[in-house]
Amino acid sequence: MSRLTRLDLDALPDYVPGRNVPGAIKLASNEVPYGPLPGVVEAIADAATGVHRYPDMGVVALRETLAERYGVDPDRIATGCGSVALAEHLARVTCLPGDEMLYSWRSFEAYPIIAATTAAASLRVPNTAEHAHDLPAMAAAITDKTRLVLVCNPNNPTGTAVRGAELDAFLDAVPENVLVVLDEAYREFVTDASVPDGLAVAGDRPNVVVLRTLSKAWGLAGLRIGFLVAAPEVAAAVRKVVTPFSTSSAAQAAALAALRASDEMQRRADQVVAERERLLPALRKLCAEVPESQANFVWLPLGDRSLEFAAACERAGVIVRPFAGDGVRVTIGTPEENDQFLSAAEAALG
Ligand SMILES: Cc1ncc(COP(=O)(O)O)c(C=O)c1O
Repeated sequence: MSRLTRLDLDALPDYVPGRNVPGAIKLASNEVPYGPLPGVVEAIADAATGVHRYPDMGVVALRETLAERYGVDPDRIATGCGSVALAEHLARVTCLPGDEMLYSWRSFEAYPIIAATTAAASLRVPNTAEHAHDLPAMAAAITDKTRLVLVCNPNNPTGTAVRGAELDAFLDAVPENVLVVLDEAYREFVTDASVPDGLAVAGDRPNVVVLRTLSKAWGLAGLRIGFLVAAPEVAAAVRKVVTPFSTSSAAQAAALAALRASDEMQRRADQVVAERERLLPALRKLCAEVPESQANFVWLPLGDRSLEFAAACERAGVIVRPFAGDGVRVTIGTPEENDQFLSAAEAALG
């Protein structure tokens, strides 16, 4: 049969989702383990009666609610089928084939896929020895072909975060015709006051986009909804290329309900953070190099032992997310789930 698809995509790694194994505890996809927020299931059930109609393509009510919550104009907001789709749209509105997309590595595994599908070149700057973004090196790596820079803060999968002063210096160094995306999927779990809220500190810079998701702290991973805040022209460009109607009516209704339950969201996020802080010192006894985390997961830089460790956890009934040759990301679960993971980790590494 003749070749029908692009040859270059053969070299592209698949996106590897966290595995669901019946009966096992899943700590592999950075979800919050406490179920949908109050009011969400009812809102979805209500929206279900209207699913023979297309959703509101302008996502008006939700954009207005987000605008109010985050203190920005609704024109600056675009929603999408998960923030990963918005990252893809941002690449589409900035990069032509051959342009460059710059990001730290290791970071969110969707970035190389997004670059490749846009036919943009991936410029990867290695993380520091502490598993964090090296922002000065990233600024130095920008060329006249660079169109898009992704700063993942906190970084998936390492959990590390950039601080305010270094982010300011970086943003000052980036040319004004290069778009910088602050991917803040885990913002609600940040507790260190020196880690900047991108919206508060940089949201008004014309070449900065802040990307947020409702999949993690807001508990809507299965409905696929994220949003961005950008300059009005950038948000308008994204709304132009977004797959029509890709923010479903159920997702819009559920997001509105979730946002009404923001106190409960914060209470759950605080619980996750308390568990993170309990786990980190225990894990450092097993693997001294475990870095700080400002997210709802921790990173074990186990190098060549990563796959073996994940297999040992799986035998103990816990699914974690290994990155071969590099490390293992473990989502913070309920206290009982975390205890089971710790026992597995102690058995494997102790
Ligand atoms: C850094 C980062 N950005 C974006 C996403 C995408 O989230 P979603 O598409 O579910 O909104 C994830 C999900 O794992 C992530 O880790």
